Amino acid sequence: MNILIAEDHYISRLLVKKTVKKIGHTVMEAENGIDAWQLFLKHSPELIISDWQMPEMDGLALCRKIRASSKKTYTYIILLTAKDQTTDLVKVFEAGADDYMIKPFKPEELSSRIKTGERIVALESQYNKIHGKLIQKNKTLDHALKDLKISQSRILQSEKLASIGQLAAGIAHEINNPIGFISSNLDALSDYLKNIASLLRHYKKLSTALKKHKPEHLNQAVTEQIQTIADYKKKIEIDYILEDIPELLNDCKDGTGRVGKIVGALKNFAHPGNDKQMLVDIHKGLESTLNVVCNEIKYKAAVIKEFGDIPLVEGYPQKINQVFMNILVNAAQAIETKGEIRIQTKKENHNAVVIISDTGCGIKKKDIPRIFDPFFTTKEIGKGTGLGMHIAYNLIEEHKGKIEVDSRIGKGTTVTITLPGK
Ligand SMILES: Nc1ncnc2c1ncn2[C@@H]1O[C@H](COP(=O)(O)OP(=O)(O)OP(=O)(O)O)[C@@H](O)[C@H]1O
Ligand SMILES: [Mg+2]
Repeated sequence: MNILIAEDHYISRLLVKKTVKKIGHTVMEAENGIDAWQLFLKHSPELIISDWQMPEMDGLALCRKIRASSKKTYTYIILLTAKDQTTDLVKVFEAGADDYMIKPFKPEELSSRIKTGERIVALESQYNKIHGKLIQKNKTLDHALKDLKISQSRILQSEKLASIGQLAAGIAHEINNPIGFISSNLDALSDYLKNIASLLRHYKKLSTALKKHKPEHLNQAVTEQIQTIADYKKKIEIDYILEDIPELLNDCKDGTGRVGKIVGALKNFAHPGNDKQMLVDIHKGLESTLNVVCNEIKYKAAVIKEFGDIPLVEGYPQKINQVFMNILVNAAQAIETKGEIRIQTKKENHNAVVIISDTGCGIKKKDIPRIFDPFFTTKEIGKGTGLGMHIAYNLIEEHKGKIEVDSRIGKGTTVTITLPGK
């Protein structure tokens, strides 16, 4: 241990020094309080043995200065005094000393008090080490907590992004279907328009012929032109065109209405609570959905309806139609060239049951459990998002119903929806 002796009296200092050295400690000496203070600042001794009465600065002032200093290591202080009144000794402890010795003292007493000091200093340094470690640990924990908070907010953020992404993909999917059939209807309508324009040109020729030819030649010219018109009408199937145009336009209107409704539904999403439950007629829903997806189906499958007597269902008609639409589109997409889509409805224990089956490609056994998973698709990129059945599952669940799939590869798929009847 490094011990500082502050004592102005030479013989006393010598005596203390002898005892200290005897028990194996190193010694620094000061003849007054100021020198002792300088040595303390420079060398941070672990123990100081100081006289009370000293020139420049006395032992009590030295004690107070040391205790007020910001040194991290602890210095044990023994004050030497000739005073033995209790009031004097109280002053010693109040100044911050740890021990005192009344002069004259025996060397054995000093050495045993130094040993006590040694133990206290050792304990103090042990405490400081543990304290330091605890502070370090605390800092590490603080860092870990901060990191945890940052990653928690990152997770929340990415979850939010994922659900926004999912929502956007769902909306894109729902808008894509009507856009698809509106665009194919517009193609058909523009072909029809070209044919009708040509037909009008033929009529124009007829009218020119009527004006140009003299009455005696009129008969033949008109007959020729009328024949051309009749042939052309046959060629372009004008009767079919005239029948099909209002249907195509109606489908387009349905489609734009549906997109409008989706946008409306989006608004509802932003301001929930406007959406009201009502009694839903499943058959009406099936019919209107069939109209909407008609273009997807009509070239591929014959639709067979076997409607039974079913109860009304409490819920959101648009959402139920969305389910039918997703299932019917899947059925049509599963049929490669020509097939059949059968829609059966029946009542079963107060429930309305809708069974939609197709004669399409079917689903592999291992894929059946995955078809309600979001983004599960076997379709090529750009054709399927893998959300149709996931959305259907969630919507049926929202209506407290259930949706089941049964399929055989190469034979076809049956989707059964059961909704609680009213
Ligand atoms: N009727 C069906 N016949 C055969 N396979 C089907 C049928 N319905 C669903 N599937 C299979 O389940 C998958 C998931 O269907 P889902 O409707 O969720 O997504 P998708 O049709 O691939 O894409 P999206 O509907 O989002 O355009 C399909 O990719 C297909 O493999
Ligand atoms: Mg689908």
